[in-house]
Amino acid sequence: MSAPPAPSTWQVCASCGSEIPETDPHPRCPRCRGLLELYHQPPAQGGNALRATFDARWGVRRGALASGVWRYCEAVLPTAREHILSYPEGNTPLLASAAVARWAGAPELLLKHEGQNPTGSFKDRGMTVGVTQARRVQARAVACASTGNTAAALAAYAALAGLPALVLVPKGQVALGKLAQALAYGARTLLVRGNFDDCLELADQASERLGAYLLNSVNPFRLEGQKTIVLELLQQLGWEPPDWIVVPAGNLGNTAAFGKALKEGRAWGLIDRAPRLAAVQAEGAAPFAQSFREGFAQRRRVEPHTVATAINIGNPASYERAVRAIRDTDGVVTTVSDDEILEAKAIVDGAGIGCEPASAAALAGARRLIREHVIRPRDRVVAVLTGHVLKDPETVTRYHQELEPRPARANRPIEIEARLAEVERVMGG
Ligand code: F0G
Repeated sequence: MSAPPAPSTWQVCASCGSEIPETDPHPRCPRCRGLLELYHQPPAQGGNALRATFDARWGVRRGALASGVWRYCEAVLPTAREHILSYPEGNTPLLASAAVARWAGAPELLLKHEGQNPTGSFKDRGMTVGVTQARRVQARAVACASTGNTAAALAAYAALAGLPALVLVPKGQVALGKLAQALAYGARTLLVRGNFDDCLELADQASERLGAYLLNSVNPFRLEGQKTIVLELLQQLGWEPPDWIVVPAGNLGNTAAFGKALKEGRAWGLIDRAPRLAAVQAEGAAPFAQSFREGFAQRRRVEPHTVATAINIGNPASYERAVRAIRDTDGVVTTVSDDEILEAKAIVDGAGIGCEPASAAALAGARRLIREHVIRPRDRVVAVLTGHVLKDPETVTRYHQELEPRPARANRPIEIEARLAEVERVMGG
């Protein structure tokens, strides 16, 4: 008898180095509980042929290959085909806006709008792979901790799959649209009296105790899906990499996933050079930026406070993976204030594009890095807008109706009696 073929995909523990089969049901290393990472055998066909394969699928309208995640299945999870659960997701636009570019000081700036995914955030890209894997390992239920968007995506995909879902969110710190989605899609929703970091610790323990499959971005299958934000934007640019990719950073899943996508992209010949990554944190929730300033000498934790609730995280789970991503891409980590985030958001919203506060951190960060001469004005920059404007309606209405101090770009609504003369009066003739 001949030996069985070597697996094309397997998992490796980043802490103890154990090699684990792809269909092992543990979201963490079963030996030491370290974070796992997926390894794929490089596709046999080489970069040119792989690009041609992806390009040939560009117009597919039905089935898994119509998804902006599964279009890249060779780079995501080549072995999952018959289990795939997809909306489809991805296929998000790469937008140019003169007003936004002018404000940032970067004429070549483009916005990759991940808010245009089915549940309104990039989380759908990770969740289609995560829930597909949950079906492969025959999970009885799925669970996550979340600042809101992961919960919304998990709830929706679990409902599509017919799996019970458990979400743990920090009470009072989740934007209204996200909480509404989790409830609407039918997830059992726990409002935890604590912050996101408390929720994640609890979800980690509870999922093991209850036998629910944990689908936070500690789960390496999530990151495989999120890599496709980078693959798709590269494809939209004709595989000509930009100089910079700028992304908001909270739990650091995206930063880690982007680094992996770029590393594999180069190793497999999809691209010949990697863009530099810029990860942007809110000043009040910036443990990764602090650690970057110290040359990543040690991992930092903080008590987080920012208006951008999606990235209100003090102890990011994918820290080590993200350090590697920043180092591998000669990347940078920066911070922006809540006022800068809200102003950037008003610019994106006012351009007719719209995004949630955490997403605007990417634009505010790009502007700051240009002002600091880290990004050159002529560089080709892609900023990733991670979530939809309707995710957080309360922050929008508060900003535009605030009295003291009145924000510079506030668009105050005006209350009137139901008379034409009133309309004429407020319109000033
Ligand atoms: N932008 C949005 C809109 C998010 O929802 C998140 C994370 C991020 C950026 C940061 O991405 O964690 O990969 O660094 N939201 C998670 C959640 C934490 O639970 O929805 P990250």
